[in-house]
Amino acid sequence: MVDLSVDLGFLKLKNPVLAASGTFGYGLEFKPFYNLELLGGFVVKGLYFNPREGNKPPRLVETPSGLINSIGLQGIGVEAFCREILPQLADLDTAVIANVCGEDEDEYARVAEYLSRHNGLAALELNISCPNVREGGRCPAQNPEATYRTVKKVKQVTSIPVITKLSPNVTDITSVARAAEEAGSQAISLINTILALAVDPETRRPKLGNVMGGLSGPAIKPVALRMVFQVSRAVKVPVIGMGGITSATDVVEFMITGAAAVQVGTANFVDPDACLRIIQGLEDWARSHGVERISELTGSLKI
Ligand SMILES: Cc1cc2nc3c(=O)[nH]c(=O)nc-3n(C[C@H](O)[C@H](O)[C@H](O)COP(=O)(O)O)c2cc1C
Repeated sequence: MVDLSVDLGFLKLKNPVLAASGTFGYGLEFKPFYNLELLGGFVVKGLYFNPREGNKPPRLVETPSGLINSIGLQGIGVEAFCREILPQLADLDTAVIANVCGEDEDEYARVAEYLSRHNGLAALELNISCPNVREGGRCPAQNPEATYRTVKKVKQVTSIPVITKLSPNVTDITSVARAAEEAGSQAISLINTILALAVDPETRRPKLGNVMGGLSGPAIKPVALRMVFQVSRAVKVPVIGMGGITSATDVVEFMITGAAAVQVGTANFVDPDACLRIIQGLEDWARSHGVERISELTGSLKI
C-alpha cells in the first residue's frame, strides 16, 4: 500500500491533490460526475462579500498549451454561499477550502469573518490577486506591505487556517511570500495566472472583452515550478503548488521541487475526471518507483 496522505500541519489531506479555485465551481457541480471524497480537497470559486457579474465577454481564449481567462471573479457572494452551498458541502469527508477575495483589506476581513461563523471549511485561501479599488487597481500580491496588512487583518478575525495565494506577476515573489508568513499565514499557494493578451489579426482587436486576462495551463508550468522552488526555500510554512498540472508526473515534479500539496486547475476543463485520474496515477507512480509515502518527495530536488 502506498501512503498518499500529506500533513500540512494545520490540515491533514488524504492525498496531495486539490482542485483549484475558479475551475471547479463550488464543488457541487462535480458531484454528479464522481465521488468528491476521493479528492485531497477542493477550493471553491472566489468569494467577495456581494455577488459580482464579472467582466464583459468574451472571457476565455485558448492559446497553444494554455487558456487566457478574464472571468473577473464572477460569483454569488459570501452570504448566498453560506446559505445555499456550504451546508451541502459541510459533511463531505474531504477538505473544503474557501477562496477569499476583496476590493480592499476590510472586505477580505469581512468575508473571512462571515465564513468563520459557519462550519465546514478546512481553510481559507486568500486570493490576494484581486485589484484594490483604493490603490488604483494594484493588488495586494504586488506589494509585501499590502500583503502583510491583508493577511494580518484576516488573521485577526478568524480561527480558520489561512493559506495565502500568490501572484506570479511580480519581480520578487519571495518577499511577498515572507510577508504573508510573517503576518501569520499557515501556508502559501502559488501560482495564480500570468497576465497575458491575445489579439485577433483580422479585426485588430484584443480577443478578450477585458483586453487582458490571466494565462493558465501547461504553458505556465515551468514558471510555476521556478516560483515553487524559490518560495519553498524562502519560507518555513508548507507550499501548495499549481500551474499547468495535467498528470501524475507533473505532481511528482512539483513535490520534488518543494510543494507539500498541489492544485489542479485548467485540466478540469479539458477532462472533468482530471483530478481522479491524477490521484490514481500518483499511486501507480509511487508503487512503480518504490515510494511508500508520497510526502517523502517534498523538497527532494537534487542540485
Ligand atoms: C477560468 C478560471 C477562473 C479562475 N478563478 C480563480 C478564482 O476565483 N480565484 C483564484 O484564486 N484563482 C482563480 N483562478 C486561478 C487558478 O486557481 C490557478 O491558480 C491557475 O489557473 C493556475 O493553475 P492551472 O494552470 O492548473 O489552471 C482561475 C483560473 C481559471 C482558468
